[in-house]
Amino acid sequence: MSDKETSVKAPRHVAVIMDGNGRWAKKRFMPRVAGHRAGVKSVRAVIEGCAQRGVEALTLFAFSSENWKRPAEEVSSLMNLFVQALEREVDTMHRNGLRVRFIGDRNLLSQQLQQSMAQAEQLTANNAGMVVLIAVAYGGRWDLVQATKKLAQLCVAGHLKPEQIQEDTISDCLELKGVPEPDLFIRTGGEQRISNFLLWNLAYTELYFTDVLWPDFGDDELAAAFAYFSQRQRRFGLIAEQLAAAVEGDTKPTVSESR
Ligand code: IPE
Ligand code: IPE
Ligand code: MG
Repeated sequence: MSDKETSVKAPRHVAVIMDGNGRWAKKRFMPRVAGHRAGVKSVRAVIEGCAQRGVEALTLFAFSSENWKRPAEEVSSLMNLFVQALEREVDTMHRNGLRVRFIGDRNLLSQQLQQSMAQAEQLTANNAGMVVLIAVAYGGRWDLVQATKKLAQLCVAGHLKPEQIQEDTISDCLELKGVPEPDLFIRTGGEQRISNFLLWNLAYTELYFTDVLWPDFGDDELAAAFAYFSQRQRRFGLIAEQLAAAVEGDTKPTVSESR
């Protein structure tokens, strides 16, 4: 991180689609899994870079609901890589005071992976540093479905009336409950789409797309994404003059930036 950067307001929550591992490997005539392996060092760099810049939460999309449809061999290599990477990295993360959490449908994962995930969450639960949320077997639509089921159950049990449902009622049933909404979204690999990531939570997130493939993404690329973020005026539906007035009066605009 450069000195110049320290004055720039950092996003509280950064959400990343780590894309382009397969193409990175293909360019080098290597198997796709080599690209996934090479991507681990970018994960490290981004965790470190975000923590240094004062980010409170970092969500990393590692495996989507749709990725189950990839060739079985790639799916199983990815699952093995998750177990290995977790076992290798979790102690360092713990030493650095980070909290690790997983979002997604963990029932679909192997017992071994579920165990490693639970251990990592327990070990780091009381740390005070940045929370790293790893999305595995996650889909934005799955998240909305599981939240809807919870709400329906509460209604059927008589604990909630349908007319009491507010936006917060839904947010509180989603996987990112308790975490501020993402301020900055980064997608590497050149595609400009959401690919069923955090559908509800990205409503007002600033979107940053780069052609850089994930294994080539490091601290300089992260700095570029933060620079882009610092140039955005977040209006949340208001007009620019209202925001200026809020700054002058040193009061916040009436719409809260994040929960
Ligand atoms: C992202 O890289 C990692 C996962 C989806 C698990 P890809 O594997 O999608 O790489 P490309 O898009 O084929 O290059
Ligand atoms: C999105 O990447 C999912 C992850 C990075 C985990 P994909 O490579 O699966 O997305 P699509 O298929 O190109 O939309
Ligand atoms: Mg891809």
